[in-house]
Amino acid sequence: MPRLVRPAAAYMASFVEAMAEGYSRDTLRPETPETIAAVAADPAWFLGQLLEPPTTVVLPDGTLGERVPETLLWYVEGDAFLGSVSVRHRLTAILEQWGGHIGYAVRPAARGRGYASAMLAGMLDHCRANLRLERVMLTVNTNNPASIRVIEKNGGVLGDTVPHPWVEGDEGRRYWIALR
Ligand SMILES: CC(C)(COP(=O)(O)OP(=O)(O)OC[C@H]1O[C@@H](n2cnc3c(N)ncnc32)[C@H](O)[C@@H]1OP(=O)(O)O)[C@@H](O)C(=O)NCCC(=O)NCCS
Repeated sequence: MPRLVRPAAAYMASFVEAMAEGYSRDTLRPETPETIAAVAADPAWFLGQLLEPPTTVVLPDGTLGERVPETLLWYVEGDAFLGSVSVRHRLTAILEQWGGHIGYAVRPAARGRGYASAMLAGMLDHCRANLRLERVMLTVNTNNPASIRVIEKNGGVLGDTVPHPWVEGDEGRRYWIALR
């Protein structure tokens, strides 16, 4: 049975394979061959960055923004990496506009098996148990029906539809899921 765990060295070989296969940590930015090579060359360094990230983050427009505290979990089976889900512990003005609390991605070879739905459900349980949040926000591009389905299956209520702040011509939906 797959389970949610903290990122760890045991899954790094599979994580690198997933990146090479097309898994990306950011829906807007694919992983570059240079990044994949750097992670493969020094997985311990990469893991350190994941577990203790810097306090700033490069925003999609290239500027530097505040990185809010975040909990990142990996979905794994045995030593195989299947996907990732993370929760930001609070929103900034930018995250309220786009990004929200929770984000997730499943490696291409593992899609269509219910993993994203299970990862989100597991992360909602984690939030209820560990974070003082009444509700969480998730944003999704309107041209991502699989993710829309995942959110709605997990109780997502549509707040509004807004122009995508980073991708001209795109629009996105902002959903809320009550935790209590
Ligand atoms: C979106 C994503 C996370 C879905 O992962 P997944 O593990 O395949 O999702 P699940 O199998 O749990 O569920 C997908 C649901 O969408 C449905 N679906 C898939 N493609 C669909 C489509 N084109 N139109 C409508 N529904 C679709 C599936 O039937 C399933 O619903 P069901 O359980 O009722 O049958 C995955 O495609 C991914 O990682 N994409 C890239 C990153 C990303 O977009 N992240 C989300 C950002 S908001």
